Amino acid sequence: MEMELNKTDYFTEEWIAKWRSSIRKSDDYKKRAREWNAPILLKFDPVPEQLKEKGKNGIFLDLQYGECHALHLGDQNDEVKSDIILTADEETWIRLIKEKKDPTMMIMKGKLKLEKGSLVLLSTHRAAAKSLLETAPLAETVGLLKPRDVEVNEQTSFWKMVKNRVSQNAKKETPVSISKNTTPVTRQHRGFVSTGKGLDFDSFPMQLFQKAKIYGIWNPATIDFTEDKKQWEGLSDEEKEILIHLSALFMAGEEAVTLDLLPLIMTLAKEGRIEEEIFLTSFLWEEAKHTEFFSRFINGVLSEKPDFERFHKHFYRILFYEKLPRDLSRLEQDSSPLAQLKASGTYNMIVEGTLAETGYAAYYKMLEENDLLPGLREGITKLKQDESRHIAFGLYLINRLLVENPEYKTDFENHLEELLNDATNVIHEIFEPYDIVPFGLDKEWFLDYAIKQFQHRMNKLNLNQS
Ligand code: MN
Ligand code: FE2
Repeated sequence: MEMELNKTDYFTEEWIAKWRSSIRKSDDYKKRAREWNAPILLKFDPVPEQLKEKGKNGIFLDLQYGECHALHLGDQNDEVKSDIILTADEETWIRLIKEKKDPTMMIMKGKLKLEKGSLVLLSTHRAAAKSLLETAPLAETVGLLKPRDVEVNEQTSFWKMVKNRVSQNAKKETPVSISKNTTPVTRQHRGFVSTGKGLDFDSFPMQLFQKAKIYGIWNPATIDFTEDKKQWEGLSDEEKEILIHLSALFMAGEEAVTLDLLPLIMTLAKEGRIEEEIFLTSFLWEEAKHTEFFSRFINGVLSEKPDFERFHKHFYRILFYEKLPRDLSRLEQDSSPLAQLKASGTYNMIVEGTLAETGYAAYYKMLEENDLLPGLREGITKLKQDESRHIAFGLYLINRLLVENPEYKTDFENHLEELLNDATNVIHEIFEPYDIVPFGLDKEWFLDYAIKQFQHRMNKLNLNQS
C-alpha cells in the first residue's frame, strides 16, 4: 500500500497547506528566490477530476522576492495574474515533485510546456524554481500526518524505505574509477581493424572525417587582416572594448579546448575505436588552428596588447579554468562511460554547443550587420563550420554511450543541468560591465539564443524515454 503513488494525496487542500508552510520556512528558497518576482501557475492538462469539480485548473503561487504571498488552487483568474504558466499532466507534476526535477530542463526536454512567460526569465531563476519544488511535500509525508491504520512494523519498513531513498540520493557518486593496477604497464594489440574486419567507412565518425578533409583545411595564416586593421582605427573605444572582450574569451576558450581534448582521444583510442580516433585527429588539429586564428587576428589589428585576462570573470573561470579541464582530465584516472558522458557533455554540449555558438552569433551580429572586419568574419565562418562537426561528433558519442548505458541518463542530465547554469551565468557576466552595450547587443536575445542552442542539441539526445 505504501509503495503506491498515492495520487489522491497530492494537490489536496491539506497538501497545499503543507507546501505553503514549508516554503515559508525554507531559508534555501528565500535565499535563491530573492530576485524572483513573478506569480506562477502550475497548470494541469488534462485537469484531474477532483480539481475540475471545484472549478480549478492548477496551483497558483504568488511569489515575491523570496516570500510566498499566496499559494492556493488556481483558476482562470489566476491565469491572467500569472507571469508564468507551466502546463503538464498530473503524472508529470507528481514526478517533478517526487524526483525534484529541474523545470527548465523539463521544458527543454518537452515534458513541460511553457504556456505563458519567457524561458529566459525562468532559466535566469532556475535555482529558485528548483528550490521551490524542493519545498513541495511528498504525499507520503502528508499522509503520515493523519493517523493511519497500518501496523507498526509496516510503518517501520516505510521509514526504512524513505531513509534508504534519502541516503541513496546523498551518496550518489561517480562509479569507482578503474584501478591503476588493472591497466598493464605495456599495452598490446590483439589485432587491427584495418587488417581485420576493415575500417567502417559508413560509420558516422568516418563520414565526419571525410567532411573534415574538405571543409577543415583552411589556413589561418593566409587570412588577410589589412582591411580589418584599417577599419579598427575607425571604431569607437566602446566598440573596440567589446570586440576585445569577446576575443579574450575566445582566445582562452580555444586554447582550453585544444589543451583539454587529449584525454578523450586517448580514452577512445585505448578502447580500439579507430574510426572515432581518426575523426578526432582532425578535431584536435582544428582546435589548434582556432587558437592560432584568434592570436593572428589580435596581432594583425591591435598595435598594443591589452590586458585580456581582466575579461575572465568568475563564471568564465569556473567553466574554462576549472570544470572543462576537470571533466576531461578525469578520464586519465576514470574512463568509465559516465566519466566519458560528463566529459563530452561539458566539452561538446556546453562549451561548444551552447557558449561558443552563442559567441559566434555575437560576432556575427556586430560585424555582418555593419559590414566590418572581413578577415575576422572569414575566419569565424570557417570556425563555425568546424565546430558543427565537433558538436555532431559529441552528440554521436553521447548517444552511443547512453544507448549502451541507459542507467546513467539521470546522472548525465544532472551534470548538464549544473553546467548549463554556469554557461548562462557566463552570458550574464559578459553583459554586466556595459550600461549601453555597443552595436546594440541585447542580453535577453543572447540568453534566449544560448538556451535554444542547448535545447536544440538536447532534442537530438536519447534522453526522452526516462
Ligand atoms: Mn574551436
Ligand atoms: Fe570545437
